[in-house]
Amino acid sequence: MKSEEPIIKIRNLKRHYKTGKVIVKALNGVSFDVREGEFLAIMGPSGSGKTTLLRILGLIDKPTSGQYTIKNLDVVNLPEEEKIFYRLTQLGYVFQDYALVNEMSAIENVYIISLMEDLSKEQSQETAKLALERVGLGDKLDRIPDQLSGGEKQRVAVARAISKTPKILFADEPCANLDTKTSRQMLEIFKMLNEKYGQTIVMVTHEDWHTEFVSRIINLKDGRITSDKKVYK
Ligand SMILES: Nc1ncnc2c1ncn2[C@@H]1O[C@H](COP(=O)(O)OP(=O)(O)OP(=O)(O)O)[C@@H](O)[C@H]1O
Ligand SMILES: [Mg+2]
Repeated sequence: MKSEEPIIKIRNLKRHYKTGKVIVKALNGVSFDVREGEFLAIMGPSGSGKTTLLRILGLIDKPTSGQYTIKNLDVVNLPEEEKIFYRLTQLGYVFQDYALVNEMSAIENVYIISLMEDLSKEQSQETAKLALERVGLGDKLDRIPDQLSGGEKQRVAVARAISKTPKILFADEPCANLDTKTSRQMLEIFKMLNEKYGQTIVMVTHEDWHTEFVSRIINLKDGRITSDKKVYK
């Protein structure tokens, strides 16, 4: 029987920041695999390296050393333009502060990335509409961010992240600016995407109760893994 290849493989990943004469070892030798269909939570105290790790996994930042492959592709060392294109078309990223364009409607915020590709406007709009329907915003396509609640803004950001049906969805504290009730709704959406559509998700959080939604938890401390546990339901 062929064993299933992991989608993400990282080995001995390090990220050192140099500020003046001081070197901060934000990541200090991190190795793990992620399998397709996992919903992984990255946890750990403030400053433990969670965002640093997610930014590297999301191809926003580069490691100081170590290996990172997605489906055996050495994504870290792709030529810069290819890497950007790969990130925009193959990966989804949700930020804590939504990162939406204020002047554009929900649907425009979702299909903006399609403008980089050779898709017709109709095709792009259709894909964007489907993504917004998936997160329950089918009736608010034309609202601009100012006309949406925090939870709805974050759902637009999630729709944007999933509209390309990314290989992996990354989210850095996606509920940080949401109240408990809205956070729960957000996590239910992630869980639905994971269970119904098999979306692989890597999410940073520091709230213990969020882990009831995930399938695995990796804890970081001082740039190293302190535990890696599957969650059995
Ligand atoms: N651009 C930077 N320059 C210098 N040091 C940095 C930089 N970004 C992060 N760091 C440092 O690297 C370490 C890890 O930071 P990181 O943002 O990854 O932590 P985090 O686990 O996401 O924390 P939080 O829970 O507060 O978001 C911290 O000591 C931080 O001060
Ligand atoms: Mg962080």
